[in-house]
Amino acid sequence: MNKKNPVLETIFERRSIRKFTDNPVSTENLTAILEAGRWAPSGLNNQPYRFLVLHDDDPRVEALSECTKYGHIVKAAKALICVFLDREKTYSVMKDHQGAGACTQNMMLAAHSLGLGTVWLGEIVNQQNQALAALNLPADRYELQVVLATGHPDQQGSSKRNELSEYMLEDF
Ligand SMILES: Cc1cc2nc3c(=O)[nH]c(=O)nc-3n(C[C@H](O)[C@H](O)[C@H](O)COP(=O)(O)O)c2cc1C
Repeated sequence: MNKKNPVLETIFERRSIRKFTDNPVSTENLTAILEAGRWAPSGLNNQPYRFLVLHDDDPRVEALSECTKYGHIVKAAKALICVFLDREKTYSVMKDHQGAGACTQNMMLAAHSLGLGTVWLGEIVNQQNQALAALNLPADRYELQVVLATGHPDQQGSSKRNELSEYMLEDF
């Protein structure tokens, strides 16, 4: 493993962050994160994702926090990057969802590389209609994929992975 490679280092060092300092996330950093999402791969390059950024003083944050058991994280974040699929851009449901995942991971890695922390909030999509209503967005047009809670980290974060051999179906 080459720890001097900045991309690999970012991948290996990123951890989900659920506690944030009071420091705001700058527009410059938010733009860089969104640009990283924009440059994700997508099937047929259809770029089906749409973004909405809520700052912590946005009145919609409270309503969104009520859509998930992780509402305390929604409220703790300095910025929420909401990622949607635009149903008018669909070409393959599965591939569009995969694209939204690639887009989100790009944004998380970009945030980490900028010294910011994120956590992918996925439980909230179980309350799809409630979340879209909280954001005043039409459910027949948009599908919420992720709420990316973002801010300056106020914790280290920790997680583990299984050994590589456990993922492998065959030796290589
Ligand atoms: C599809 C998906 C949904 C997730 N949903 C939540 C969530 O609702 N709440 C939460 O606190 N973390 C959520 N996470 C973060 C995972 O818990 C976390 O990525 C995992 O435990 C590994 O930890 P790490 O990101 O620090 O390496 C989600 C991650 C993914 C990829």
